[in-house]
Amino acid sequence: MLAEYTRWFRGAFPTGGRPDRHNGRLRRVFRALTDLLACPRCRAPLRLDAPALPPGAARAEDPGRIETGMLLCAGGHAFPVVGSVPRLLASAVAPVAPDVRAAFERQWRHFGRLRRIFGKDRAAMRRNLVNERMGARIREPWYRGRTVLDAGCGHGRYLRAFADLGARVVGVDLGEGPAYAGVPTDDSRLQWVQGDVLALPIRDASVDLAFCDGVLHHTPDPRRGFEELARVVKPGGAVYVWLYPKEGWLREAVFGAARAVTTRLPGAALRVLCFALAPLTAFVRSYSRTRFPRATWAECAQVVHDWLAPRLQSHHTDAEVAGWATAAGLVDLEVLPVPVGLVAWKPPVSPA
Ligand SMILES: C[S@@+](CC[C@H](N)C(=O)[O-])C[C@H]1O[C@@H](n2cnc3c(N)ncnc32)[C@H](O)[C@@H]1O
Ligand SMILES: [Zn+2]
Repeated sequence: MLAEYTRWFRGAFPTGGRPDRHNGRLRRVFRALTDLLACPRCRAPLRLDAPALPPGAARAEDPGRIETGMLLCAGGHAFPVVGSVPRLLASAVAPVAPDVRAAFERQWRHFGRLRRIFGKDRAAMRRNLVNERMGARIREPWYRGRTVLDAGCGHGRYLRAFADLGARVVGVDLGEGPAYAGVPTDDSRLQWVQGDVLALPIRDASVDLAFCDGVLHHTPDPRRGFEELARVVKPGGAVYVWLYPKEGWLREAVFGAARAVTTRLPGAALRVLCFALAPLTAFVRSYSRTRFPRATWAECAQVVHDWLAPRLQSHHTDAEVAGWATAAGLVDLEVLPVPVGLVAWKPPVSPA
């Protein structure tokens, strides 16, 4: 472990010296996250080891400063913090994940600053979090003071919406989506870390809501992802998931054949194709049943890119996902109006 740590430090600071900048902001960010984060490999708590400025050299305000350090667990695993963002990817990520990650990296790099993502602006995203898409029990007042995990937060479109609703939220994604979208890294109510939903860097029973929208079907093991969500929810808390539904054979066959080609195209060629196919969003029903009447051409191209780029994409049924929830010990299952969506609750701890 020490060798791993030393090697990383040398790589991060090629001049060989420790950075002559302080990590005050990073310490604050970590303090706000410390009760949530866990080692993704052994689930032990993490501690921060960040270099300090030499006495007298501290500068309180330096927006360009490097905020960096290491997160260490008692089990001997080490993870870097780069640009104030903990990088908590377990090395055991399935071999196909780097490919999925690269497809989404390109998506957020090129489309992350659009006003509407998946056809929704900020107001529409907020509405989705307080209406029947979240089941019967989660409405606006529910969020105040709650802790939310946005697993596979993508470009971070829901992070701001959760924070606006009064929740404290942490986003986890394989890639850098929130950075491309300009999500801040120094807000104690809204944070993001790099991690894998199949090995969440989050403590057991630590969040009130584990929210996972449009992610598990891009992983090699959606059921394991669901079990991870159930693990991190507190007693009395909820898991929300939405996955792509299994469709009729014709649509499955046509989309499957198209994706066999598009998922192998180089990034630039695929983007050109997505712009060319953007009008498809006017008459091909999206999996989420979203309509795009006001979306710009580029906003529609983002939606098409999301269909055509990631190599992994599985399709599911309500019964299958309900089975995962029951097996994970969740109760009060609510099948949501847009398939395949489910909210399920962890039973509260009964008083001793
Ligand atoms: C279709 S986007 C959805 C993003 C976001 N949940 C939303 O609703 O806008 C899927 C996201 O899942 C992320 N993702 C895919 N596999 C993942 C994994 N194993 N762990 C964490 N994130 C993953 C991708 O990087 C991508 O940003
Ligand atoms: Zn560990």
